[in-house]
Amino acid sequence: MAHRSLVAGCGSYLPARVVTNADLAKTIDTSDDWIVQRTGIRERHVAAEGEYTSDLAVKAADAALRMAGMAASEIDLIVCATSTPDETFPATATRVQARLGMTRGAAFDVQAVCSGFIYGLAVADNFVRAGQAETVLVIGAETFSRILDWQDRSTCVLFGDGAGAVVLRGVEGNGGAKERGVLSTHLYSDGRHHDALYVDGGPSTTGTAGHLRMDGREVFRHAVVRMAEAIDTALDANGLNPGDIDWLVPHQANLRIIEAMAKRLNLPSERVVVTVDRHANTSAASIPLALCEAVRDERIQQGDLILMEAMGGGFTWGSALLRW
Ligand code: UT7
Repeated sequence: MAHRSLVAGCGSYLPARVVTNADLAKTIDTSDDWIVQRTGIRERHVAAEGEYTSDLAVKAADAALRMAGMAASEIDLIVCATSTPDETFPATATRVQARLGMTRGAAFDVQAVCSGFIYGLAVADNFVRAGQAETVLVIGAETFSRILDWQDRSTCVLFGDGAGAVVLRGVEGNGGAKERGVLSTHLYSDGRHHDALYVDGGPSTTGTAGHLRMDGREVFRHAVVRMAEAIDTALDANGLNPGDIDWLVPHQANLRIIEAMAKRLNLPSERVVVTVDRHANTSAASIPLALCEAVRDERIQQGDLILMEAMGGGFTWGSALLRW
C-alpha cells in the first residue's frame, strides 16, 4: 500500500476591481488589439488598496476548506506559493494560518514565481507521501500589481492578482495511475536564466521591493521547450501517453504558449482550461484559479486525468499529473 494525496477540495478568489486593456491604453502606449493578439489577455483583476496577498489567500483557502467539508483545525500544514508576500518576513502562510484560526501544525511559503503552485503541490504531496502530514492546504496567491512598473508596457499589461487553493488529504492506495490523487510532480530550475525574468529589488540588494523585469521573447523561447520536456517526463513516469489526458490546466501566461502546448499534445481546445483572457498572468495563483473554475462549472469530473505545467522566473518549471 502506498500513501498518496487526494484533492479533497479547491477554492479561489479574485479581487473585485477589473482593469480592461482599454483602461490600460488610457495611460500607456498600448492597445486592446496588441494585447489580445500577442497574449490573449482581455482584462485582469487588481487588488484594492489595503488588500494584501494574505487577504486573497485566506478567501481562497476558506472556499477550499468549505468544499472539502473540513475545518482549519484539521489542517497539518499550509504551503503558500507566492512571490509577492505581504512582508519580507514572516511567511504569508503564517498570516493565513492565524486568520484561519489554525493554531497547530506548520505554515511556510514557497517561492518559485509562476511555477510556485507546482512547487507547492510537490512539497505538500511529498510531506503526505512521507507521512509527515495528513492534510495540507496548498495556496497560490499573488498581488503582482504591486511589483509592476506601470510605465513599462512590455510587462504591466501581462499580469493580474488572485489566489487559488487546494486541500490535500492522505489516502492509501496501490500507487497505480488509475487511482485518484496526485500521481506525480516533476520540478526543474536553471538559475543561469536569472536576467530573463527577475525583480530589480529585494531586502539584501536595494532594500526596496523592486519591479518586475522581463525579456519576454527569451522566456517565450524557453517556455514551450522546457514545459514540453517536463510533460513528457511526467507521462513516461506514469506509463501514460498524451491520449490519456482529459484536461490540460496550464499556467496562464500567454494564450499562444498554451495553444502550442495543446497542439503538441494533440489536445482539442475544449480540453484546455483557459483563464488568461480574464485573469491575465496571476503567477502562482493561475493554475489553482483555472482548476477551481473547471471544477466549479463541472467540466472536470471524478476520475479525469489532469495535466498541470508551469514555467517562471529563475528559470523554474515543472509538471504535475492529478487524477481527480
Ligand atoms: O509567467 C512567467 C512567464 N512569462 C511568460 O511566459 C511570458 C512569455 N513571453 C510572452 O508572452 C511574449 O514574449 C510577450 C507577450 C511578453 C511579448 O510578445 P512578443 O510577440 O514576444 O513581442 P515582443 O516583445 O517581441 O515585442 C514586439 C513589439 C515591440 O516593438 P518593436 O520593437 O517591434 O517596434 C515592443 O516594443 O511590440 C512592442 N510592445 C508593445 N506594443 C504595444 C511591447 N509591449 C507592448 C504593448 N503594447 N503592451
